[in-house]
Amino acid sequence: MNMELNFLTSAEQLETGCQAVDRGRNGLLKVYRDVVALVQPRDDHGVAADDVAAFADACDRLVARLQQHFDLQEALMWSQNYPRRERHKQVHDHFLGEIRYLAEGVKGETVVNGAANFLAEMVGRWLISHTSADDRELAAFLRDRGFDGDDAGCP
Ligand SMILES: [Fe+2]
Repeated sequence: MNMELNFLTSAEQLETGCQAVDRGRNGLLKVYRDVVALVQPRDDHGVAADDVAAFADACDRLVARLQQHFDLQEALMWSQNYPRRERHKQVHDHFLGEIRYLAEGVKGETVVNGAANFLAEMVGRWLISHTSADDRELAAFLRDRGFDGDDAGCP
């Protein structure tokens, strides 16, 4: 793995302490690692010519996993009448739109040097930031309500 992208190293960095909020995150992290592994650890941060198809496939799987993870959280927010659900969903939607745009870009005839690195780094940093703020806020709300549904709930 490219050491410069090695900041997102464990599932613990993406945990809120509430399993219902964290659902789908291990699968998301696994696909994210597939994306990072294809970024060249060189100055240009591109993708090797032989890996372009694999990189595009990994990006597709990453978008699908992000969508799945967000859908689960949003269903939880609506079922629990979370007061900040609209704003939290907007944050998801905005990020997913950006990642879809970038992922489409890397499926073109070339993977522009820097674009692959940018996508991988942006996703990693966003996930850590979003988990530590918006997702933990949701987890705290559920915990305060004594939520115990969806797997183990929020003990
Ligand atoms: Fe979220």
